[in-house]
Amino acid sequence: MKFFVDTADITAIAELNDLGMVDGVTTNPSLILKSGRDILEVTKEICDLVAGPVSAEVVALNAEDMIAEGRKLAKIADNIAVKVPLTWDGLKACKVLSDEGNMVNVTLCFSANQALLAAKAGATFISPFIGRLDDINLDGLELIQDIRTIYDNYGFETQILAASIRTVNHVQDCALIGADVMTAPPEVIRKLASHILTDKGLEQFMKDAAAGNIKIV
Ligand code: E4P
Repeated sequence: MKFFVDTADITAIAELNDLGMVDGVTTNPSLILKSGRDILEVTKEICDLVAGPVSAEVVALNAEDMIAEGRKLAKIADNIAVKVPLTWDGLKACKVLSDEGNMVNVTLCFSANQALLAAKAGATFISPFIGRLDDINLDGLELIQDIRTIYDNYGFETQILAASIRTVNHVQDCALIGADVMTAPPEVIRKLASHILTDKGLEQFMKDAAAGNIKIV
């Protein structure tokens, strides 16, 4: 499973990228707002830093304007994936932009039928939002499983990009289901390394190393 990082925070992206943990980046208007940066500027910086796909989201509602914005975003770098919402206009924009050879990430997906439409419109990535479904007592992981089944039934090549990931368990479950990609905030990716027994075991080893005056360098 590929790891995308869901942020526009350059420092956090760089730190994870140095560790080989970043196969791509996803942003959205809320994350750009949080960064306090200009969208074109910060997106260019991310694209220069990371080799994999960098999703940049359009901010228009009608297909024509989404296409114009998508073309402009795509000019930033070769690794831009234009992010469009899963609306009828977003699907029209997806078809045009992907026919022109751009990577397209269709976002705000909350049903398997929506994912089916995105695949037919030529999406490179479909972004089902797990956490936001869980927030309203629906089952985000069930959606990932349903999309996996449908895409495999018909050989769709659109990659399932599990999004709105809030917990380390979401990451593990997505990997078990077979999501192609997951995108998570930097803090969730860092938490994947944590285990209480690792901490306890290390504490004991450090005590014993000190007691035995064990030195290596
Ligand atoms: C995905 O591309 C979105 O940017 C993101 O995962 C949304 O996550 P949220 O529901 O935590 O805002």
